[in-house]
Amino acid sequence: FPDDIQVHRGAILHFLDDPGNDTDPRPDSLAFLDDGLLVLHRGRVLATGTPEDLIPRLPVGTEVRYWHHGLLVPGFIDTHVHMPQLGVMASYGTQLLDWLNTYTFPHEARFAEGDWARAEAERFTRLLLAHGTTSALVFCTSHAQSVEALFEAAESRNMALTAGKVLMDRFAPESLLDTAERGYRDSLDLLRRWHGRGRLRYAVTPRFAATSTPEQLALAGRLARDCPDALVQTHWAENPAEIQWTRELFPERASYLDVYRHYGLLGDHTVLAHGIHINDHDRAVLAATGTRIAFCPTSNTFLGSGLFDFAGARAAGVPVGLATDVGGGTSLSMLATMAEAYKVCRLRGQTLSPWQAFYLATLGNARVLHLEHSVGSFRDGRHADFLVLDMTGSPLLDMKRPFCQSLQDTLFSLMMLGDDRAVAATFVAGELQHQRPGPSPSQIQ
Ligand code: GUN
Ligand code: ZN
Repeated sequence: FPDDIQVHRGAILHFLDDPGNDTDPRPDSLAFLDDGLLVLHRGRVLATGTPEDLIPRLPVGTEVRYWHHGLLVPGFIDTHVHMPQLGVMASYGTQLLDWLNTYTFPHEARFAEGDWARAEAERFTRLLLAHGTTSALVFCTSHAQSVEALFEAAESRNMALTAGKVLMDRFAPESLLDTAERGYRDSLDLLRRWHGRGRLRYAVTPRFAATSTPEQLALAGRLARDCPDALVQTHWAENPAEIQWTRELFPERASYLDVYRHYGLLGDHTVLAHGIHINDHDRAVLAATGTRIAFCPTSNTFLGSGLFDFAGARAAGVPVGLATDVGGGTSLSMLATMAEAYKVCRLRGQTLSPWQAFYLATLGNARVLHLEHSVGSFRDGRHADFLVLDMTGSPLLDMKRPFCQSLQDTLFSLMMLGDDRAVAATFVAGELQHQRPGPSPSQIQ
């Protein structure tokens, strides 16, 4: 090994492939070391292995950071979250359309002010890291400067974020509206300046069909066609009133999904949030086009939107990611999101194994966002984005610790009982970006 390596020691878990959703993971879908070393070089993974194998190969004097009780996993990835909605979380008593008008649009209007946008973008990236999330696909507001603010905050932490300016030219307060032409120009300008700069990428971001004119959706489709490696993100089939309204606005289209298809917005670079009230034909179109769904369980239960059919999507071959959808969602924690996903599956007579849940939050979501080549696992050469999970951080998890007899027990306890207190530290490209307050790990030679 070169002299300038960084070495972490603890339990290590990462996925190499989809483990399936049965009690036992598919063979060779994951790698686990109950005591392992993670060797990093220049922000990337150089090797993982046992202490017996690797310690003799370390240059003399190499410091090993020993995470007692720590489980090192790849950084969590969130496939759908709104930077400008932190303050909207926990707003009482409404379903989607009232929630947007009553709470969300007035709050997003504040991002016209640059200082506010920059402070919130800073807060948002810090909070993601405190929850162990190192990458995400993010909605900003319709103000171009909300995107600038987020990209600047992410770049200063070397985070691989994908984000976009919301396109919205009707049915919202004046101060949030763009026009088809202006939205197109602002998006193209942001895309040219930020897409592919370091670890950042751009996503074409029509809010949803209802708040864009046909002209705006057509221009969004043109951006997607002209920049095929940018992502596309929007909302779809979340709530019955939303679906009915969309049918009325686009009577000439066969379905809500057909609106997006018609304007060239489907494909394997598109992530549709929610997709709850859908049918087999929709699933077949998604599978055939490679279009992804972001499953947002805490949002779907909080807003009373419905129960996503996870097994139905998987069986149809639809790529599904897991997401918080803050501020419709009630937590930035991917652990809390796994817990809610499990409960949604149970209410549908389905299940979500801890293997599948942790796969989704890491490699599965990396695949959904086309980031598998750079994050989501500890394969050699990946960016060293990882977190240290630790059950001693919260009283309930600590209580549960002695009852965990297997890795499966530990993962299930972490997902059902865990939150940001289970995240002892978060690293991005090998740099410590968050450490939970409390005693620091002992360092051994
Ligand atoms: N549909 C259109 N906009 C939004 C939003 O901001 N959040 C959610 N959950 N659904 C939406
Ligand atoms: Zn959303």
